[in-house]
Amino acid sequence: MDISFKINGTSMTRKVSPTKRLIDFLRNDLGITSVKEGCSEGECGACTVILDGKAVTSCTVFTGQIDGTEIVSIEGLAPSGDLDRLQEAFVRNGAIQCGFCTPGMILSCKALLMENPHPTSWEIRRAIEGNLCRCTGYEKIVKAVEELVRWDNTERPER
Ligand code: FES
Ligand code: FES
Repeated sequence: MDISFKINGTSMTRKVSPTKRLIDFLRNDLGITSVKEGCSEGECGACTVILDGKAVTSCTVFTGQIDGTEIVSIEGLAPSGDLDRLQEAFVRNGAIQCGFCTPGMILSCKALLMENPHPTSWEIRRAIEGNLCRCTGYEKIVKAVEELVRWDNTERPER
């Protein structure tokens, strides 16, 4: 089938097998290898992308489901090469170690901030509960997002 979609701001149309997994389509057909494969069954979050504003695990989505949608992978956060503020916060807080979980982790946090720019610590933790990290112990990741939210709150003139 032919599908049309937007990926990282670019519109495309492709002929695909509708039952191909989105993770395979992104990695093998489009060369977006920042989308990592860990568990292959929706449990680790390494393959997370943002699909129409929501964080989804691309190993559990079929390509036939993305017709007419907009997808963002980690490349979409820094299209000109300048890091997104969330990526900078991760770097500043040491929230990246081996980096395997990082694209998915950042995209889950980004989807949260798109929906709720001022989440509580509990809401941040809820947003990343589907993203496993073997390295950081999660505290630095939560701290990175909290720092960004705190700065944004401080900058808000009405607060
Ligand atoms: S590889 Fe998709 S959730 Fe683990
Ligand atoms: S930084 Fe290594 S798995 Fe998260």
